[in-house]
Amino acid sequence: MRELALNILDIAENSLAAGAKLIGISLTADFDEDRMEIGITDDGCGMDKDTLARVTDPFTTSRTTRSVGMGLPLFKFSAESAGGRFHIESEKGKGTSVTAEYRISHIDRMPLGDFGGVVLQLVTMNQGVDFRVAVKVGKAEGVLDTREVREILGDVPLDAPEIRAFLRDYIQENLVSIYGGRL
Ligand SMILES: Nc1ncnc2c1ncn2[C@@H]1O[C@H](COP(=O)(O)OP(=O)(O)O)[C@@H](O)[C@H]1O
Ligand SMILES: [Mg+2]
Repeated sequence: MRELALNILDIAENSLAAGAKLIGISLTADFDEDRMEIGITDDGCGMDKDTLARVTDPFTTSRTTRSVGMGLPLFKFSAESAGGRFHIESEKGKGTSVTAEYRISHIDRMPLGDFGGVVLQLVTMNQGVDFRVAVKVGKAEGVLDTREVREILGDVPLDAPEIRAFLRDYIQENLVSIYGGRL
C-alpha cells in the first residue's frame, strides 16, 4: 500500500465488517511538531482479549478466504516505520479504536493520498452506517458528520447522484483549504 488513505479504507472496512453503526475517522496534523495522527473508532462487535493480542501479527485473521489478514499489521507498520506509534484498543460488545502516529517529515512516511476519495466512498456506499470525519491541521479544522447531513436531507440517500457530487466537492474543497497538498 503506497497511500495511507488506502490503509484507512482497510481499517474502516474492518469496522463495517464488525457491524459498526457509527465510525469515527480523525486526521490530526501539526507541522510545527512534525506530527500526524490518524484514528479510526467504531461501535462494532469488538474483540476479545485473545484476538486483540494477536491482530497485529500478520498470521491472524478471522477470514476463511484468506489465511493472512494484513489490514492491521500494515497500518501498524506504516506508523512504526515512520518514527511513529500504533495503538489499538477493543472491548467485546463495545467497539474498537485504532490509532497510528507519524513523523510527517520521515523519509518512510507514506503520503496520505486520496483521503477525500476514501471518505466519499465510505459515506456514500454504506447507507446504514454513520460517519464522523474530523480533520485538524494546525488551527484549521473541519468536520463531516453524516448524521447531520441526513437530518438536512431527510429521505434522500447519500448516494443520490446530486448529493454524491455535492459531497465530493464539499469534501475536496474543505481538505484543500485545511491541508492543501501538504500531507
Ligand atoms: N474494528 C474491528 N472490530 C472487530 N474486529 C476487528 C476489527 N478490526 C479487526 N478485527 C479483527 O481482526 C482481524 C484482523 O484484521 P485485519 O488485519 O484487517 O485482517 P482481515 O480484515 O483481512 O482479517 C479481523 O479478521 C477481525 O477478526
Ligand atoms: Mg481488514
